[in-house]
Amino acid sequence: MPENCVTVRTIGEAREWRGRVAASDRVGFVPTMGALHAGHRSLIDTARTECAKVIVSIFVNPTQFGPTEDYDRYPRTFAADEALCREAGVDMIFAPDAAEMYPPGNCTSVEVSDWQDRFEGASRPGHFRGVCTVVAKLFHILQPDIAYFGQKDAQQLRIIEQMVHDLDFPVTIRALPTVREADGLACSSRNRYLSAEERQSAPRIYQTLVQIRDWIQAGESAVSELQKRATSLLTAIPTARLDYLAFLDAETWQPVTTVDRKIIVIVAVYIDKTRLIDNIIIDII
Ligand code: PAJ
Repeated sequence: MPENCVTVRTIGEAREWRGRVAASDRVGFVPTMGALHAGHRSLIDTARTECAKVIVSIFVNPTQFGPTEDYDRYPRTFAADEALCREAGVDMIFAPDAAEMYPPGNCTSVEVSDWQDRFEGASRPGHFRGVCTVVAKLFHILQPDIAYFGQKDAQQLRIIEQMVHDLDFPVTIRALPTVREADGLACSSRNRYLSAEERQSAPRIYQTLVQIRDWIQAGESAVSELQKRATSLLTAIPTARLDYLAFLDAETWQPVTTVDRKIIVIVAVYIDKTRLIDNIIIDII
């Protein structure tokens, strides 16, 4: 285990650090917005086992938040994050501030055009432009060999894969399964916004996804019927408002009407003001 975990605040220092890594050392990278939890930890732990050097970025990226979203109150727990990284054997934390990443006059962004207006992109205009732009910048600055992303943010993962493919980034994207609390709720930095009662009912989102899988395995293949049944479960959660529930081909992300192949079911639910997302991949074979 490395004895030292350095925190670097500027792009120049990050490049310098990266330049000192031996060419034969594989560099793993876990981009995050901090408030680290078990989901992030599993990405870091996998990177640690696969790479000689591990970099974690901690940057609450302003460009991926809409004007009415939670940028200002997004949890910032740097001391705890740093301790977790140190404990996990991370070699370098890149934690720039917004002015370092977006100096005055910057005006270039990355768009994965077919994707930015669907599902998360429809509900959060500009969100994926912000995500792609910051991830592209981080890849350029840190030049990882492998970058680790969670299946929890399925659309983000799919878009990053597309960006890396289309723009020829020399990086391998590794997707890792969603880490869940004991009751099934997907770990998320935003779970800490939930009141005690909301936290109690939030696992019903994942329970609904599992129920959809059970219905499919019991022979139901009509998406209209699955959609109707699942919507009534989700809207019965106290204070819940369903943003979207979509049944998509797991490869193409085109909507399906019949479950006759591997699908992904993606969901976004507001519990009062807290927006939670989750997904499940269901293979019929
Ligand atoms: P953040 O929400 O901090 O997530 C960082 C990484 O952790 C993402 O790849 C996300 O999918 C993964 N992750 C979050 N919860 C997880 C869980 N329960 N199980 C497994 N992985 C999980 O996603 C972002 O930050 C940002 O958009 C970022 C990519 C850093 C760009 O700003």
